[in-house]
Amino acid sequence: MSHPSPRSWLFVPADSEKKIGKAIEGDADAIIFDLEDSVAPGAKKDARAILKELRREGGPRWWVRINPIGSEFIRDDLKLIANADFEGIVLPKAESGEDVVHLAHLTGDIPIHAIVTETAASLFGLLSYRLDNSPLAAMSWGAEDLSAALGASSKYDANGELAFTYKMARSLCLAGAVSAGVEPIDGVYTDVRDLEGLEVEARAAAAEGFTGKLAIHPAQVPVINKAFTPSDEEVAHARAIVDAFAAEAGAGVLMVGGRMVDLPHLKQAERLLKRARD
Ligand code: COA
Ligand code: MG
Repeated sequence: MSHPSPRSWLFVPADSEKKIGKAIEGDADAIIFDLEDSVAPGAKKDARAILKELRREGGPRWWVRINPIGSEFIRDDLKLIANADFEGIVLPKAESGEDVVHLAHLTGDIPIHAIVTETAASLFGLLSYRLDNSPLAAMSWGAEDLSAALGASSKYDANGELAFTYKMARSLCLAGAVSAGVEPIDGVYTDVRDLEGLEVEARAAAAEGFTGKLAIHPAQVPVINKAFTPSDEEVAHARAIVDAFAAEAGAGVLMVGGRMVDLPHLKQAERLLKRARD
């Protein structure tokens, strides 16, 4: 995937021409045309027909979420991909790197963004995405399908926070994606009216190492873009660290801005600069 990678990934139900029009005109870094859960079984055919006619003319990058491997819809979804204008495929309900290999076998080199925590078994597969020569580009996590799969009545604990199981899924997604060398993407914030809550969650995700977040409503896009854009101060500090190491070949530890910096700080600074925007 070319850099910088998308900060906001906006889901759009692919059977809604109205929402598609709005998303294409909007500021999301990437749109995910959804053929899976937001499209009823009886509407999948119409959704594919709509996508088949679309041609991209700039704006957000175009991804498509297909139905799960093994579902009755996958054959027609894959036929569509061969005939449409997508940069990559979002694979739901992935359980391990084998699913990515299987999909890549069917689709070739097109980049894949796998949603990796939607089934009970998936929680045991998070290291398996670390594969050589894989088209995997990003990994995100989801609490909605996981809670349904686990038979939960709520994904929250007694304090109103995400319960341990979902926090664990989120952390495993982060570490799994980083170990696979792909972008870690935070899951959706379902309360579309609560933009303050979204901002808190998105900033926390960015601070932890996620490089973007899934969105479900256009109003979420600017909040997410901002949270995942390094500030001018952060960019300047990172640049100072990189410059300091460049100026002293062979140095292991240096002082920058009155603080000790060593290899982990240099790596962090380099990663941040990759995400900087002008
Ligand atoms: N992409 C593009 N446009 C969207 C949109 C989306 N994801 N969600 C809403 N809009 C549009 C609406 O059509 C509406 O357009 P209008 O002003 O021209 O009428 C406008 O944004 C405001 O929408 P609003 O009335 O606030 O929301 P809603 O009640 O119409 O829709 C949802 C709420 C949740 C159904 C809708 O946001 C949605 O479909 N989200 C995506 C769901 C999805 O893909 N889920 C799968 C992944 S978890
Ligand atoms: Mg789902």
